[in-house]
Amino acid sequence: MEYRQNRIAIVTGANKGIGLEISRQLSENGILVVLTARDEVRGQAAVKKLQDVGVKDVVFHQLDISDPASITFLKEFVKTKFGKLDILVNNAGVGGVELQSPTTLMEGDPESLYDAINETYEISKECIDINYYGTKAMCEAFIPLLHQSKSPRIVNVSSTFGKLQFISGDSIRKELRNIDNLTEDRLEKLLGTFLIDCKEGRLKESGWPERTFSAYKVSKNAVSAYTRILAKNHPRFIVNCVCPGYVKTDFNYNTGTISVEEGAKGPVMLALLPDGSPSGQFYNQTEPTSFE
Ligand SMILES: NC(=O)c1ccc[n+]([C@@H]2O[C@H](COP(=O)([O-])OP(=O)(O)OC[C@H]3O[C@@H](n4cnc5c(N)ncnc54)[C@H](OP(=O)(O)O)[C@@H]3O)[C@@H](O)[C@H]2O)c1
Repeated sequence: MEYRQNRIAIVTGANKGIGLEISRQLSENGILVVLTARDEVRGQAAVKKLQDVGVKDVVFHQLDISDPASITFLKEFVKTKFGKLDILVNNAGVGGVELQSPTTLMEGDPESLYDAINETYEISKECIDINYYGTKAMCEAFIPLLHQSKSPRIVNVSSTFGKLQFISGDSIRKELRNIDNLTEDRLEKLLGTFLIDCKEGRLKESGWPERTFSAYKVSKNAVSAYTRILAKNHPRFIVNCVCPGYVKTDFNYNTGTISVEEGAKGPVMLALLPDGSPSGQFYNQTEPTSFE
């Protein structure tokens, strides 16, 4: 088994944007990073980009978080090579929107983004599948290897849109807030209802967020709630979720207002939290915030 003495991290969706910078900053902190990307060519190019600026301890492995076979392949790689995992950064995500009118986009102006995008049922479903079910599949696959670590950490990259204030329905909010009783099964039933309401055009009357970013808000609320469930079920782990800020990346068609260097700081801080730190919390960048 190689590198047993190193702390090992997996970063998902790391070929660009915040994930790439999280990988760089973790490596700068002495962590051996498994930089993953769903596209082999883009992922290898990202590793080369880091190596070209002197980053050493980064290895690439393909990973599509919506593909169970791809997750299993990565799990076998990490198990064989390292025998454990110390840090899982679930960063990969999609916005659940398509760009309709690129010409109206203005840098640093989120309002211009809202006018330029469109949401369909198919894109909404993909967003729930990747952002929530993909994150959950990664956690489930790697929990046994995280148990082999002295200081297991999970960082779920959520969003301010993953706060309860973006869901208008009282009963939905109440269920998501009631973390003592909320189960994954119940959470997933809620997601199923959201998708039916989305398909049948009943988002507003059913208490879900309306466009824009309705599926994204629901998916990130699910990630936030799942973070609390994980923290409750795995008291030895430190599991938190974080909004990186409004970061200038392809995700928001570069309308973000802060750099990837700034945006990666919160997730990296949480990945490196010392033993005894809080778990099951929500952070806005590097500061604790509420789930409300
Ligand atoms: N940027 C912001 O202002 C902002 C704000 C709040 C939260 N966030 C969150 O921050 C995270 C990173 O976003 P970003 O801004 O860095 O966006 P980005 O530049 O678009 O990067 C997203 C990454 O996720 C990957 N990805 C998407 N679906 C995947 C899948 N099924 N399997 C594996 N990788 C997948 C993408 O791969 P491809 O290159 O192959 O598409 C890409 O590497 C996301 O979870 C996002 O929700 C961002």
